[in-house]
Amino acid sequence: MEYFDLVSKDAFWWLFTLPVFMPSKNNNILDGHIIFSLAATFLLLGLLSWALSSGGVAWKNGRNRLGRVHIPGPRGFPVVGSLFVLSRGLAHRTLAEMASRRGNSQLMAFSLGSHPFVVASDPSTAREILTSPCFADRPLKQSIRSLMFTRAIGFAPNGSYWRLLRRMAASHLFSRRNILSHEAGHRLDCANMVRAIENEQRALGFVTLRRHLQFAALNNIMGSVFGRRYDELRDREDLRELTEIVAEGFELLGAFNWSDYLPWLCHLYDPLRVEERCARLVPRVKRLVKGIIDEHQIDGRPVGVCDVGSDDFVDVLLSLDGEEKLQEDDVIAILWEMIFRGTDTTALLTEWVMAELVLNPDVQKRLQSELDQAAAGEGRTTFTHADVANLPYLQAVVKETLRVHPPGPLLSWARLSTEDVHLSNGMVVPANTGAMVNMWSIAHDPKVWDEPDRFLPDRFLTEDVDVRGGDMRLAPFGAGRRVCPGKNLGLAVVALWVAELARGFDWSQQPARPVDLAEVLKLSCEMKHPLCAVAVKRSSHIISV
Ligand code: HEM
Repeated sequence: MEYFDLVSKDAFWWLFTLPVFMPSKNNNILDGHIIFSLAATFLLLGLLSWALSSGGVAWKNGRNRLGRVHIPGPRGFPVVGSLFVLSRGLAHRTLAEMASRRGNSQLMAFSLGSHPFVVASDPSTAREILTSPCFADRPLKQSIRSLMFTRAIGFAPNGSYWRLLRRMAASHLFSRRNILSHEAGHRLDCANMVRAIENEQRALGFVTLRRHLQFAALNNIMGSVFGRRYDELRDREDLRELTEIVAEGFELLGAFNWSDYLPWLCHLYDPLRVEERCARLVPRVKRLVKGIIDEHQIDGRPVGVCDVGSDDFVDVLLSLDGEEKLQEDDVIAILWEMIFRGTDTTALLTEWVMAELVLNPDVQKRLQSELDQAAAGEGRTTFTHADVANLPYLQAVVKETLRVHPPGPLLSWARLSTEDVHLSNGMVVPANTGAMVNMWSIAHDPKVWDEPDRFLPDRFLTEDVDVRGGDMRLAPFGAGRRVCPGKNLGLAVVALWVAELARGFDWSQQPARPVDLAEVLKLSCEMKHPLCAVAVKRSSHIISV
């Protein structure tokens, strides 16, 4: 074994080609024997390099042995590596189980077809990956390229264009000042949602929460980005188009597309028709976003309710000049990404919180009591962002939900190494390797958290854990230079919604459709079966926005 370790695995490749040069009966170059020998040679070579590469086919030629300590990992199958295992089911759970069974929690190498990946399931390696400037790019899938996302913040390569976008978004969309300037809009969306829930409960005797959360999330982000809010009746057509486009985009970005990892498959096997569907979606996206921009430019201020005293993000992007001036397609891509990211994460995180509150009536009661006291103390009928930021139990409930159900369990948007990266444990991750952090695994690791499978918000009352990227035991927004720029907005909105929903209603199981915490992993990890619950209005609650 040592011998093989020292000698490059491909050193003997020429032995297998010898039959080709042997004389054959009729010296015909297309002799059947020759063809057979060649095929057998390549097959043997392939099998040999696969058999000798821990981590699988993409780690051949000793790629995982560049450092003092080699990166261990499963071989998977020849050619496809671990594709079969990870294409089905819940990749975060499968990878967690594999890493723990093999003792590869620090770092595990695996192959997705010809693409090498590593996954860290331990806080200190996670920190090194997320905070290293050498992991500031992201691997790209076909759908990301086709849907223009390489021109938006999330997938733009690390460089001056990406830095400009981050700077713009940080100061004009996600800053504290900006979040507060849109507060009136956030509270309005929340009050409308509470009313719609009340109506649905009255009509049906139960509520399916997801639709309401997604609509409020859409209006929140449309308000901050475009200064435009939708009305379900007045804007029925626009809304239908927008929600269809967003849903199709999610489906395409979240789809497991085999040809992303085996490029030669793209013309042979595309069961989801990713390429064709992306090509059809892009003109619709452009038409829709361009329409809103045009409306914006004509009117100065678009229709719908505007947030007072704030420039929206479109104004800012359109005002860039000189070297910073953006092409129209760039502006469309950036705005499209914001709609996309803003509608997904906040809604699905709130749905997880509410599911846990239904399943844990004691936690719900304790939260309601904190909310009632705060409301009485402030003499308010609805909460502000500042109110909810100071409610420790509410914050603990949101953090515990982020721990048990991180929306991006594998920090869905992986990183890519731009050069060989030397880790402090002696391993070297070669350039062009995809790197994931299994946040789900860290957040469910009994060595990191006591009783990790129980929903216990109290754990965050005794210890202040920074969930915004400062503590790798729980970093659901990632960390380092590509940390989620929307984290403050996301947390502020979710806390406000949970506060109003928990103070407004008593939530309980609907006997015909009990709460099911099964997950489905798309672009984010969401409830497989949308939460359906009985929401009885609490007498203490009056809405007055
Ligand atoms: C609960 C809410 C949210 C969660 C859990 C979440 C999670 C994440 C995660 C895990 C990443 C990858 C970070 C990394 O690679 O280190 C990310 C990136 C990103 N998120 Fe969020 N996010 C949330 C809300 C939002 C919102 C509301 C927006 C915008 C409206 C947003 C916009 C983005 C963008 C643009 C990136 C890419 C950053 C870059 O590559 O430079 N997120 N988010």
